[in-house]
Amino acid sequence: AIWKKQTSVYEQEMLLKQTLSIKEAKIVSGNADYSDYRSHEMGLQVSNYLNQQLDLGHHIIAITGGTTMLDIAKNFSKGLSHGRHFTVVAARGGFGDQLAAQANTISDILAHQLNGANMSLYTPEKVSEETYRLLLTEPSIQETLTALNQADVLLFSVGDALTMAKRRGLDDNEINQIREGKAVGEAFGCFYNEEGEIVYRLPRIGMQLKDLEHIELPILIAGGASKAEAIKAFAKLAPKQLVLFTDKGASTKVLYGE
Ligand code: F6P
Repeated sequence: AIWKKQTSVYEQEMLLKQTLSIKEAKIVSGNADYSDYRSHEMGLQVSNYLNQQLDLGHHIIAITGGTTMLDIAKNFSKGLSHGRHFTVVAARGGFGDQLAAQANTISDILAHQLNGANMSLYTPEKVSEETYRLLLTEPSIQETLTALNQADVLLFSVGDALTMAKRRGLDDNEINQIREGKAVGEAFGCFYNEEGEIVYRLPRIGMQLKDLEHIELPILIAGGASKAEAIKAFAKLAPKQLVLFTDKGASTKVLYGE
């Protein structure tokens, strides 16, 4: 515990990056489970990072839904758009979240913030296999999927498995499968266990977990000690170029289990 107190944030970031075997880890102060403060800080930090990483010119940012992404989008620094043009694309269709926290709403907020263009992905919540295939042939959906394929930046979060299952209104049978599979986290509609194995999948249109491999800058933003398990397990299935932005609450739990 003494050693823990003496380590600087920078040292903790290095340790986190090594522990999770990812490209980079950034830690902001606070614990998202208890305060709202983190969100302003997080949005600024992520945009500062992108300012260092991205060349001038055109970039495509894909973004998912959830309250973390909503906070990030609202607090993105407008300065990032100096010398750059952004197209922001919703990475997933409707998902049963409240409208305010859906990818489509958030991509629009971020596009405004960056003075850029927004591309939505309008698909119904649950569709049959047949409708799903038909939807994929719709030109407006194809256009968005093509843009998603070309995204160089992805902003997304992960969630605790059961919290997400409930938020998405999954039925008892589905929740049982998630429990039996010992899922600890969820991202892109995939529920995964602590080994990073997918134990249940919600088929939806949009970016899929496997697409992360081809993205230059996949940025996971997840804070709060309650997301520690989900973050840790996600790192096992994530590509090596993953960048993590988290807070003190989550990183302390990941590193020291408390
Ligand atoms: O619903 C989209 C989503 O990005 C999930 O994939 C993720 O688990 C969740 O939101 C995170 O939600 P929040 O940021 O509200 O914790």
